[in-house]
Amino acid sequence: MFKKQQSVVGVDLGSHTIKAVELQATPNGPRLINFGVSEPLSEAIVDGEIIDRELVLEALRKLFESRHFRSKKVVSAVSGRAVIVKKITMDRLPQEEARQAIVWEAEQHVPYDVNDVVLDFEIMDPDGDGKQMDVLLVAAKKDLVLSHADLLREAGLTPVIIDIDSFAIQNAVEANYTLDEKEMVALVNVGAELTNINVIQNGKPIFTKDLQLGGNNVEEALQRKQNLTQSEAQAVVQGRAPAKAEYAETIRAAFEPLATGIERAGSFIKSGSESEKISRIFLSGGCARVDGLRTFLEERHQVPVEVVNPTARIPYDPAIFGSQDMETVAPSLTVGLGLALRSMGDK
Ligand SMILES: Nc1ncnc2c1ncn2[C@@H]1O[C@H](COP(=O)(O)OP(=O)(O)OP(=O)(O)O)[C@@H](O)[C@H]1O
Ligand SMILES: [Mg+2]
Repeated sequence: MFKKQQSVVGVDLGSHTIKAVELQATPNGPRLINFGVSEPLSEAIVDGEIIDRELVLEALRKLFESRHFRSKKVVSAVSGRAVIVKKITMDRLPQEEARQAIVWEAEQHVPYDVNDVVLDFEIMDPDGDGKQMDVLLVAAKKDLVLSHADLLREAGLTPVIIDIDSFAIQNAVEANYTLDEKEMVALVNVGAELTNINVIQNGKPIFTKDLQLGGNNVEEALQRKQNLTQSEAQAVVQGRAPAKAEYAETIRAAFEPLATGIERAGSFIKSGSESEKISRIFLSGGCARVDGLRTFLEERHQVPVEVVNPTARIPYDPAIFGSQDMETVAPSLTVGLGLALRSMGDK
Protein backbone atom coordinates (compact mmCIF):
# COMPACT_ATOMS: atom_id res chain seq x y z
CA MET A 1 0.00 0.00 0.00
CA PHE A 2 2.82 2.38 0.80
CA LYS A 3 5.03 2.63 -2.23
CA LYS A 4 8.68 2.77 -1.27
CA GLN A 5 9.89 6.24 -2.04
CA GLN A 6 12.55 6.30 -4.74
CA SER A 7 15.99 7.58 -3.97
CA VAL A 8 19.05 8.26 -6.07
CA VAL A 9 22.71 8.93 -5.27
CA GLY A 10 24.70 11.72 -6.91
CA VAL A 11 28.30 10.53 -7.25
CA ASP A 12 30.93 13.24 -7.65
CA LEU A 13 34.24 11.60 -8.59
CA GLY A 14 36.71 14.33 -7.65
CA SER A 15 40.48 14.13 -7.77
CA HIS A 16 40.67 14.71 -4.01
CA THR A 17 37.73 12.62 -2.77
CA ILE A 18 34.53 10.96 -3.98
CA LYS A 19 31.43 12.66 -2.67
CA ALA A 20 28.11 10.77 -2.70
CA VAL A 21 24.77 12.41 -1.87
CA GLU A 22 21.49 10.52 -1.63
CA LEU A 23 18.19 12.29 -2.20
CA GLN A 24 14.77 10.80 -1.82
CA ALA A 25 11.78 11.94 -3.87
CA THR A 26 8.94 12.82 -1.51
CA PRO A 27 5.56 14.42 -2.20
CA ASN A 28 7.05 17.62 -0.76
CA GLY A 29 10.12 17.56 -2.98
CA PRO A 30 13.59 16.09 -2.58
CA ARG A 31 14.88 15.17 0.86
CA LEU A 32 18.55 14.63 1.73
CA ILE A 33 18.72 11.23 3.39
CA ASN A 34 22.43 10.38 3.35
CA PHE A 35 25.85 11.46 2.16
CA GLY A 36 29.43 10.27 2.32
CA VAL A 37 32.95 11.42 1.50
CA SER A 38 35.64 8.88 0.57
CA GLU A 39 39.19 8.68 1.81
CA PRO A 40 41.59 10.95 -0.17
CA LEU A 41 42.31 9.44 -3.59
CA SER A 42 45.89 10.63 -4.03
CA GLU A 43 46.46 11.22 -7.75
CA ALA A 44 44.09 8.44 -8.89
CA ILE A 45 42.09 10.98 -10.93
CA VAL A 46 43.98 13.59 -12.93
CA ASP A 47 42.25 16.29 -14.96
CA GLY A 48 38.94 14.48 -14.72
CA GLU A 49 40.45 11.28 -16.08
CA ILE A 50 40.65 8.11 -14.00
CA ILE A 51 44.29 7.01 -13.95
CA ASP A 52 44.22 4.41 -11.17
CA ARG A 53 40.96 2.51 -11.72
CA GLU A 54 41.52 -0.01 -8.94
CA LEU A 55 42.07 2.66 -6.32
CA VAL A 56 38.95 4.59 -7.33
CA LEU A 57 36.90 1.39 -7.50
CA GLU A 58 38.04 0.36 -4.05
CA ALA A 59 37.23 3.80 -2.62
CA LEU A 60 33.81 3.78 -4.27
CA ARG A 61 32.95 0.29 -2.98
CA LYS A 62 34.12 1.18 0.52
CA LEU A 63 32.09 4.38 0.50
CA PHE A 64 28.87 2.62 -0.52
CA GLU A 65 29.42 -0.19 1.97
CA SER A 66 30.28 1.99 4.94
CA ARG A 67 27.58 4.59 4.37
CA HIS A 68 24.77 2.13 3.56
CA PHE A 69 23.15 4.07 0.74
CA ARG A 70 19.65 2.78 0.03
CA SER A 71 19.81 3.06 -3.73
CA LYS A 72 22.25 1.74 -6.30
CA LYS A 73 20.86 4.15 -8.87
CA VAL A 74 23.46 6.84 -9.43
CA VAL A 75 23.90 10.07 -11.37
CA SER A 76 27.48 11.10 -12.04
CA ALA A 77 29.41 13.67 -14.09
CA VAL A 78 32.53 14.29 -16.13
CA SER A 79 34.61 17.47 -16.10
CA GLY A 80 37.93 18.96 -17.14
CA ARG A 81 39.62 19.38 -20.49
CA ALA A 82 37.65 16.59 -22.14
CA VAL A 83 34.39 18.51 -21.69
CA ILE A 84 33.48 21.48 -23.86
CA VAL A 85 30.52 23.77 -23.39
CA LYS A 86 30.07 26.52 -25.93
CA LYS A 87 27.35 28.90 -26.93
CA ILE A 88 27.13 28.97 -30.72
CA THR A 89 24.93 30.70 -33.25
CA MET A 90 23.45 28.75 -36.15
CA ASP A 91 20.62 28.97 -38.67
CA ARG A 92 17.27 28.52 -36.97
CA LEU A 93 15.98 24.98 -37.33
CA PRO A 94 13.35 22.90 -35.57
CA GLN A 95 14.66 20.64 -32.81
CA GLU A 96 14.91 17.44 -34.86
CA GLU A 97 16.66 19.07 -37.81
CA ALA A 98 18.96 20.89 -35.43
CA ARG A 99 19.95 17.49 -34.04
CA GLN A 100 21.31 16.54 -37.47
CA ALA A 101 22.95 19.87 -38.12
CA ILE A 102 24.63 20.03 -34.73
CA VAL A 103 27.20 17.45 -35.84
CA TRP A 104 28.41 19.79 -38.58
CA GLU A 105 28.47 22.70 -36.17
CA ALA A 106 30.43 20.66 -33.66
CA GLU A 107 33.09 19.95 -36.26
CA GLN A 108 33.86 23.65 -36.32
CA HIS A 109 33.68 24.30 -32.60
CA VAL A 110 35.05 21.21 -30.90
CA PRO A 111 38.80 20.51 -31.00
CA TYR A 112 38.22 16.74 -31.09
CA ASP A 113 37.02 14.39 -33.82
CA VAL A 114 33.19 14.49 -33.67
CA ASN A 115 33.18 10.69 -33.82
CA ASP A 116 35.05 10.64 -30.51
CA VAL A 117 32.63 12.82 -28.58
CA VAL A 118 29.16 12.55 -27.12
CA LEU A 119 27.19 15.58 -28.27
CA ASP A 120 24.27 17.29 -26.65
CA PHE A 121 22.66 20.65 -27.29
CA GLU A 122 19.96 23.00 -26.15
CA ILE A 123 18.29 25.68 -28.22
CA MET A 124 18.46 28.69 -25.92
CA ASP A 125 15.58 30.63 -27.46
CA PRO A 126 13.27 27.92 -28.87
CA ASP A 127 10.40 30.38 -29.26
CA GLY A 128 12.50 32.98 -31.08
CA ASP A 129 11.71 33.90 -34.67
CA GLY A 130 15.00 35.32 -35.91
CA LYS A 131 16.89 33.71 -38.81
CA GLN A 132 19.53 32.53 -36.38
CA MET A 133 19.35 30.87 -33.00
CA ASP A 134 21.67 30.55 -30.01
CA VAL A 135 22.49 27.00 -29.12
CA LEU A 136 24.34 25.64 -26.14
CA LEU A 137 26.64 22.94 -27.45
CA VAL A 138 27.98 20.33 -25.06
CA ALA A 139 30.64 17.84 -26.10
CA ALA A 140 32.40 15.29 -23.92
CA LYS A 141 35.03 12.76 -24.96
CA LYS A 142 33.22 9.45 -25.50
CA ASP A 143 35.94 7.30 -23.93
CA LEU A 144 35.80 9.42 -20.76
CA VAL A 145 32.03 9.11 -20.44
CA LEU A 146 32.09 5.38 -21.17
CA SER A 147 34.94 4.55 -18.80
CA HIS A 148 33.20 6.58 -16.13
CA ALA A 149 29.95 4.66 -16.54
CA ASP A 150 31.87 1.33 -16.68
CA LEU A 151 33.62 2.10 -13.43
CA LEU A 152 30.32 2.81 -11.69
CA ARG A 153 28.86 -0.46 -13.03
CA GLU A 154 31.94 -2.35 -11.92
CA ALA A 155 31.34 -1.01 -8.42
CA GLY A 156 27.87 -2.59 -8.57
CA LEU A 157 26.03 0.67 -9.25
CA THR A 158 23.56 1.59 -11.97
CA PRO A 159 24.42 4.87 -13.68
CA VAL A 160 21.25 6.54 -14.99
CA ILE A 161 22.69 9.88 -16.14
CA ILE A 162 26.23 11.13 -16.81
CA ASP A 163 26.09 14.92 -16.60
CA ILE A 164 28.80 17.57 -16.32
CA ASP A 165 29.93 19.24 -13.08
CA SER A 166 28.92 22.78 -14.04
CA PHE A 167 25.30 21.92 -14.76
CA ALA A 168 25.03 19.99 -11.51
CA ILE A 169 26.30 23.05 -9.62
CA GLN A 170 23.71 25.19 -11.38
CA ASN A 171 20.97 22.74 -10.36
CA ALA A 172 22.07 22.82 -6.76
CA VAL A 173 22.25 26.63 -6.61
CA GLU A 174 18.91 27.14 -8.36
CA ALA A 175 17.22 24.71 -5.96
CA ASN A 176 18.45 26.66 -2.95
CA TYR A 177 18.53 30.32 -3.91
CA THR A 178 16.09 32.66 -5.57
CA LEU A 179 17.81 34.41 -8.45
CA ASP A 180 16.52 37.43 -10.22
CA GLU A 181 15.66 36.73 -13.89
CA LYS A 182 17.91 39.48 -15.21
CA GLU A 183 20.72 38.89 -12.78
CA MET A 184 23.97 37.51 -14.19
CA VAL A 185 25.54 35.18 -11.66
CA ALA A 186 28.91 33.43 -11.64
CA LEU A 187 28.98 29.96 -10.10
CA VAL A 188 32.54 29.13 -9.08
CA ASN A 189 33.31 25.65 -7.74
CA VAL A 190 36.86 25.35 -6.47
CA GLY A 191 38.11 21.78 -6.00
CA ALA A 192 41.57 20.33 -5.61
CA GLU A 193 42.83 20.60 -9.18
CA LEU A 194 39.83 21.92 -11.08
CA THR A 195 37.66 25.00 -10.85
CA ASN A 196 34.35 24.98 -12.68
CA ILE A 197 33.15 28.42 -13.75
CA ASN A 198 29.60 28.77 -15.01
CA VAL A 199 28.03 32.17 -15.62
CA ILE A 200 24.27 31.90 -15.75
CA GLN A 201 21.37 34.20 -16.45
CA ASN A 202 17.69 33.39 -16.30
CA GLY A 203 18.45 29.71 -15.78
CA LYS A 204 20.72 29.44 -18.81
CA PRO A 205 24.47 28.93 -18.84
CA ILE A 206 26.08 31.69 -20.89
CA PHE A 207 29.75 30.97 -20.25
CA THR A 208 31.07 27.68 -18.95
CA LYS A 209 34.67 26.66 -18.46
CA ASP A 210 36.81 24.40 -16.28
CA LEU A 211 40.14 25.87 -15.18
CA GLN A 212 43.14 23.76 -14.13
CA LEU A 213 43.31 25.31 -10.72
CA GLY A 214 42.40 24.51 -7.14
CA GLY A 215 43.54 23.68 -3.62
CA ASN A 216 46.57 21.78 -4.94
CA ASN A 217 48.00 25.02 -6.31
CA VAL A 218 47.59 26.71 -2.95
CA GLU A 219 49.29 23.80 -1.17
CA GLU A 220 52.20 23.91 -3.63
CA ALA A 221 52.57 27.67 -3.18
CA LEU A 222 52.58 27.35 0.61
CA GLN A 223 55.25 24.66 0.41
CA ARG A 224 57.41 26.65 -1.98
CA LYS A 225 57.06 30.14 -0.54
CA GLN A 226 56.43 29.47 3.13
CA ASN A 227 58.56 26.34 3.49
CA LEU A 228 55.71 24.24 4.80
CA THR A 229 55.64 20.47 4.45
CA GLN A 230 52.87 19.02 2.32
CA SER A 231 50.82 18.00 5.32
CA GLU A 232 51.29 21.41 6.97
CA ALA A 233 50.20 23.13 3.77
CA GLN A 234 47.18 20.86 3.50
CA ALA A 235 46.23 21.59 7.10
CA VAL A 236 46.27 25.34 6.35
CA VAL A 237 44.15 24.91 3.19
CA GLN A 238 41.66 22.75 5.07
CA GLY A 239 41.47 25.12 8.02
CA ARG A 240 42.88 22.56 10.49
CA ALA A 241 45.89 24.76 11.19
CA PRO A 242 45.71 28.52 11.74
CA ALA A 243 46.47 30.55 8.61
CA LYS A 244 49.20 32.90 9.79
CA ALA A 245 49.03 36.48 8.56
CA GLU A 246 52.07 35.97 6.34
CA TYR A 247 50.31 33.14 4.45
CA ALA A 248 47.57 35.46 3.24
CA GLU A 249 49.62 36.92 0.39
CA THR A 250 50.73 33.47 -0.79
CA ILE A 251 47.14 32.21 -0.78
CA ARG A 252 45.91 35.26 -2.66
CA ALA A 253 48.66 34.95 -5.26
CA ALA A 254 47.81 31.28 -5.81
CA PHE A 255 44.17 32.21 -6.40
CA GLU A 256 45.07 35.10 -8.73
CA PRO A 257 44.51 32.99 -11.90
CA LEU A 258 41.03 32.21 -10.56
CA ALA A 259 40.21 35.91 -10.27
CA THR A 260 41.56 36.42 -13.79
CA GLY A 261 39.45 33.51 -15.04
CA ILE A 262 36.29 35.08 -13.64
CA GLU A 263 37.30 38.44 -15.16
CA ARG A 264 37.80 36.77 -18.55
CA ALA A 265 34.39 35.15 -18.29
CA GLY A 266 32.94 38.60 -17.61
CA SER A 267 34.67 40.28 -20.53
CA PHE A 268 33.81 37.41 -22.87
CA ILE A 269 30.16 37.98 -22.10
CA LYS A 270 30.41 41.73 -22.54
CA SER A 271 31.95 41.36 -25.98
CA GLY A 272 29.03 39.11 -26.93
CA SER A 273 25.43 40.16 -27.28
CA GLU A 274 24.78 40.70 -23.59
CA SER A 275 25.93 43.91 -22.03
CA GLU A 276 25.34 43.17 -18.39
CA LYS A 277 27.88 42.46 -15.71
CA ILE A 278 28.27 39.65 -13.24
CA SER A 279 26.41 40.89 -10.17
CA ARG A 280 26.99 38.07 -7.72
CA ILE A 281 29.36 35.14 -7.21
CA PHE A 282 28.43 31.81 -5.61
CA LEU A 283 31.42 29.92 -4.26
CA SER A 284 31.32 26.15 -3.75
CA GLY A 285 33.63 23.12 -3.65
CA GLY A 286 36.07 21.99 -0.99
CA CYS A 287 38.00 25.26 -1.24
CA ALA A 288 35.00 27.55 -0.76
CA ARG A 289 35.97 28.01 2.88
CA VAL A 290 39.71 28.46 2.39
CA ASP A 291 40.68 31.36 4.59
CA GLY A 292 40.54 34.63 2.68
CA LEU A 293 39.26 33.33 -0.68
CA ARG A 294 35.76 34.73 -0.33
CA THR A 295 36.93 38.19 0.70
CA PHE A 296 39.67 38.16 -1.95
CA LEU A 297 37.11 37.59 -4.72
CA GLU A 298 34.78 40.14 -3.19
CA GLU A 299 37.50 42.81 -3.23
CA ARG A 300 38.72 41.88 -6.70
CA HIS A 301 35.35 41.79 -8.41
CA GLN A 302 33.48 44.27 -6.24
CA VAL A 303 30.40 42.07 -6.07
CA PRO A 304 28.94 40.03 -3.21
CA VAL A 305 30.45 36.54 -2.92
CA GLU A 306 28.39 33.91 -1.13
CA VAL A 307 29.45 30.43 -0.02
CA VAL A 308 26.88 27.93 -1.33
CA ASN A 309 24.88 25.89 1.12
CA PRO A 310 23.38 23.23 -1.16
CA THR A 311 21.05 22.10 1.62
CA ALA A 312 19.63 25.54 2.43
CA ARG A 313 16.17 24.55 1.18
CA ILE A 314 16.53 20.77 1.18
CA PRO A 315 15.14 19.14 4.31
CA TYR A 316 17.29 16.58 6.15
CA ASP A 317 17.76 15.00 9.54
CA PRO A 318 20.75 16.82 11.15
CA ALA A 319 21.84 13.45 12.56
CA ILE A 320 23.17 12.44 9.12
CA PHE A 321 26.02 14.92 9.61
CA GLY A 322 26.98 13.17 12.86
CA SER A 323 29.89 14.93 14.52
CA GLN A 324 30.86 16.68 11.27
CA ASP A 325 30.29 20.39 11.00
CA MET A 326 27.55 20.77 8.39
CA GLU A 327 28.72 24.26 7.34
CA THR A 328 32.22 22.98 6.55
CA VAL A 329 31.11 19.90 4.63
CA ALA A 330 28.13 21.32 2.73
CA PRO A 331 29.92 23.42 0.04
CA SER A 332 31.84 20.33 -1.12
CA LEU A 333 28.57 18.42 -1.58
CA THR A 334 27.28 20.90 -4.18
CA VAL A 335 28.12 18.81 -7.29
CA GLY A 336 26.88 15.54 -5.74
CA LEU A 337 23.64 17.12 -4.58
CA GLY A 338 23.04 18.82 -7.92
CA LEU A 339 23.59 15.50 -9.68
CA ALA A 340 21.06 13.69 -7.50
CA LEU A 341 18.56 16.50 -8.17
CA ARG A 342 18.86 15.77 -11.89
CA SER A 343 16.83 12.62 -11.63
CA MET A 344 14.24 14.15 -9.29
CA GLY A 345 12.60 15.82 -12.25
CA ASP A 346 13.92 19.10 -10.94
CA LYS A 347 15.58 19.84 -14.24
N1 LIG B 1 37.22 21.32 5.13
C1 LIG B 1 37.69 20.77 4.00
N2 LIG B 1 37.42 19.48 3.70
C2 LIG B 1 37.89 18.92 2.56
N3 LIG B 1 38.65 19.57 1.66
C3 LIG B 1 38.95 20.85 1.91
C4 LIG B 1 38.49 21.50 3.08
N4 LIG B 1 38.95 22.76 3.05
C5 LIG B 1 39.66 22.87 1.94
N5 LIG B 1 39.70 21.73 1.25
C6 LIG B 1 40.41 21.51 -0.02
O1 LIG B 1 39.44 21.40 -1.05
C7 LIG B 1 39.94 20.58 -2.08
C8 LIG B 1 38.96 19.47 -2.34
O2 LIG B 1 37.78 20.03 -2.83
P1 LIG B 1 36.73 19.15 -3.63
O3 LIG B 1 36.29 18.02 -2.78
O4 LIG B 1 35.69 20.08 -4.14
O5 LIG B 1 37.65 18.63 -4.82
P2 LIG B 1 37.47 17.39 -5.79
O6 LIG B 1 36.10 17.45 -6.36
O7 LIG B 1 37.82 16.13 -5.08
O8 LIG B 1 38.59 17.65 -6.86
P3 LIG B 1 38.53 18.23 -8.37
O9 LIG B 1 37.12 18.60 -8.67
O10 LIG B 1 39.44 19.38 -8.37
O11 LIG B 1 39.03 17.10 -9.20
C9 LIG B 1 41.28 20.05 -1.63
O12 LIG B 1 42.30 20.88 -2.16
C10 LIG B 1 41.21 20.21 -0.12
O13 LIG B 1 42.47 20.34 0.47
MG1 LIG C 1 35.25 18.47 -7.99
